[in-house]
Amino acid sequence: MEKSPQYPSRRLFGKKLTTSLGVCLLLPKLALAKTATPTQTEGPFYPDTPEQEKDTDLTHIEGHTELAEGETILVRGRVLNTDGKPIKNAEVDIWQANHHGRYSHREDPNPAPLDAHFQGWGITKTDELGHYGFKTIKPGAYPLKYLGGPGWRCRHIHFKVSCLGYKPITTQMYFEGDTLIEQDLEIAKVPKDYQHLLIADQQKDQLSGLPLFRFDVMLAKI
Ligand SMILES: [Fe+2]
Repeated sequence: MEKSPQYPSRRLFGKKLTTSLGVCLLLPKLALAKTATPTQTEGPFYPDTPEQEKDTDLTHIEGHTELAEGETILVRGRVLNTDGKPIKNAEVDIWQANHHGRYSHREDPNPAPLDAHFQGWGITKTDELGHYGFKTIKPGAYPLKYLGGPGWRCRHIHFKVSCLGYKPITTQMYFEGDTLIEQDLEIAKVPKDYQHLLIADQQKDQLSGLPLFRFDVMLAKI
């Protein structure tokens, strides 16, 4: 795989530290936190319906009595700079396929069902401590054959994150435990050592009992 200048040399992170006891330690994952979140393609399905509701609850559209189909989840995280400091007032813009793997987009050729009660798109801003959060459903995986490609896209949520003074990024969040990650051609474009930065850890929200996926995004200064 061709190395991108976005990714520092592995040697930087694999550097061994020798303690006073002579024990060699590898620098922890945290060292990678000095790197901006890897970018990913925007894909062809950025929402084309600007009039659509885009609040932080994607499972419910105002005026609808029914909720979106699928497994309700929470997606929460922080937007940080590459020193690990929170970025307040960053815009976090997400969009995703529905439970069936279909985007609510005029150009999506996937014949899987639409879900009239799924919002599919949400935009929010981070708070003082860089936190953001959405309630949504776990997106379905979708086959690439309708787009002329092989295989499947594993479950993912698209993200655009921006803030004045920082390089905006477009990326995708993946789900811990998704067996399709191994064959996904988009995450495969990110060097192996960095892929974990795009895979959200699953936890359980104590208050609601809902599955909670944690995804932090790191922006580099301009
Ligand atoms: Fe996608």
